[in-house]
Amino acid sequence: MTYQISSLEDYKQTYQRSIDDPEGFWADQAETFTWRKKWDSVLEWDFREPNIKWFSGAKLNITENCLDRHIATRGDQVAILWEPNNPADEVQKFTYRELLAAVCKCANALKALGIEKGDRVVFYMPMVPELAIAVLACARIGAVHSVVFAGFSAQALADRVNDASAKMIICSDFNNRGSKHIPVKKVVDEAMAKGCPSIENILVHKNSNEDIEWSDKDVWWHDQVAGQSEECPAEIMDAEDLLFILYTSGSTGKPKGVVHTCGGYMVYTCFTFKNAFQYKDGDIYWCTADIGWITGHSYIVYGPLLAGATSVMFEGVPTYPDAGRFWEICEKHQVNQFYTAPTAIRALMARGDEWPNKYDLSPLKLLGSVGEPINEEAWNWYNKTIGKEKSPIIDTWWQTETGGIMITPLPGITDAKPTYASYPMPGVQPVLLDADGNLVEGNNVEGLLCIKFPWPAMLRTTYGDHERCRQTYFSVFKDMYFTGDGARRDEEGRIRVIGRVDDVMNVSGHRMGTAEVENAINEHENVIESAVVGYPHEIKGQGIYAYVITDGSKGGEDLINEIRAVVTREIGPIAKPDKIQVVSGLPKTRSGKIMRRILRKIAAKDTSNLGDVSTLLNPEIVEEIIKGSL
Ligand code: PRX
Repeated sequence: MTYQISSLEDYKQTYQRSIDDPEGFWADQAETFTWRKKWDSVLEWDFREPNIKWFSGAKLNITENCLDRHIATRGDQVAILWEPNNPADEVQKFTYRELLAAVCKCANALKALGIEKGDRVVFYMPMVPELAIAVLACARIGAVHSVVFAGFSAQALADRVNDASAKMIICSDFNNRGSKHIPVKKVVDEAMAKGCPSIENILVHKNSNEDIEWSDKDVWWHDQVAGQSEECPAEIMDAEDLLFILYTSGSTGKPKGVVHTCGGYMVYTCFTFKNAFQYKDGDIYWCTADIGWITGHSYIVYGPLLAGATSVMFEGVPTYPDAGRFWEICEKHQVNQFYTAPTAIRALMARGDEWPNKYDLSPLKLLGSVGEPINEEAWNWYNKTIGKEKSPIIDTWWQTETGGIMITPLPGITDAKPTYASYPMPGVQPVLLDADGNLVEGNNVEGLLCIKFPWPAMLRTTYGDHERCRQTYFSVFKDMYFTGDGARRDEEGRIRVIGRVDDVMNVSGHRMGTAEVENAINEHENVIESAVVGYPHEIKGQGIYAYVITDGSKGGEDLINEIRAVVTREIGPIAKPDKIQVVSGLPKTRSGKIMRRILRKIAAKDTSNLGDVSTLLNPEIVEEIIKGSL
């Protein structure tokens, strides 16, 4: 059994051991899993390359650990409890035994379609059980899954398919989200029309009675999977073989494929799940994330299943059919641990207390938050109105690249202070640096958040571009993993993550590169140049503010709407700018670099202290932009 910390003293001792003897510590954790062959060495690492190997030489299959090893002890326990978009529709429950059978059938179907170990399979699916099943089916046969959030555009999907040279896309025909019925397969068809030469088949799960366009590469899930055997031997994987690629935004235009591998990711996600959520046998755990993001990978699918938990998966949205939906589900399934994003908390807080107050939330033992800083007001509401001041809140800080939770309070064990992610998980060694790379020591200080020692679930590379991985994360500061976040350490050593220090925005908990959005805006035929920044937004955390220079041939609402439509086409609706200001120029340094610092301040309506603008190439533009700001 994975070790579960039970007291503050235990945390302190466990943490100390994990720092004094990381290899011994993680080897002990790894011993609790099923390995086909044990490791030759626990850790080999060199951050300069970077070259990171955990459990080198070990052989395993993560699905044997998620599924097969639980059959003897909890075969009839519900593994995945699926709640449909429409509350009147039927809940689906998969016991561990049923889930294993479903995964094996799907795995056999994939094999029959020629998918082999190492092949990349891209997903573009709503939150239906088949998404989790097919992700695990890939892992079963050693195929590398890459789930693309089903809100991205056809262009974004095609870019990811091509970057991964994927052999197959798995999608649904339609996506039911709230009152919307979104034609998912149509987006896949559009992506294919843009050119995805590596795709051999599209496996389509039926989620609607409507007809869809069909091509000779398309295969129905129900035709392909139904007749397959419920047994499928697990492919034996090396600990460092690829498990998945997940694309995420960086400060340059192109999303990068963050690569996670089998062994270390398994050990770390299970350990962090058991400890951060203090999951106990019989608990019902619900993470509201989408499997299109890392939170869904690590804490809907892998972490909970590795730990033998019952994990709720929800197809819908928090406000459909009404703003009580989350709380209704909590009551209906007697949810004990609830994990969501600050943006959802703020949106529901704005709807008033009458919604949560309609439901019995007494089974809740823990509330979690992830994805962005949680402001004090939202934290307090979550604590009082949802947790009734008896459910500890864990504000979990981590990233797509870290694979699992890095800094978090442990519920009932370490105290929680609003807006603080608090203390590191065992094995995690965070440090703060100044801009020159010097350690910022002591408490009550701020700095750039780095991690100075490897942990098992860290990214290994960015797919197809190892140099980009090196440059982005490992070369900014010597011998450090650089997170891209700024943080503060309080008088008692707790860490509060303030936000990104690079050109990455966090919109409703979704990571978005400013360059990515600018590239999309610049596709509009009348746009000459643009600059995008994030600004404080009451519900979304950050909103997107775009400054655009046009050729002057078009203006007004039409132009604004067209620009928004172009961004939706290029990336997806999540990247649509909230505010678009047409400007005649952008503040630039003499070397031609846009001074985003100034634009950020203007967008935040904080123009009292813009600093010295006289060194700009065009200082007069600043006043003009302030006058026209939205
Ligand atoms: O800026 C931090 C913010 O989200 C970024 C990571 O985004 P992503 O890779 O999409 O993963 C989100 C889910 C793990 C971080 O660099 N972030 C995440 N959690 C927190 C946070 N900021 C403050 N507090 C958090 N708890």
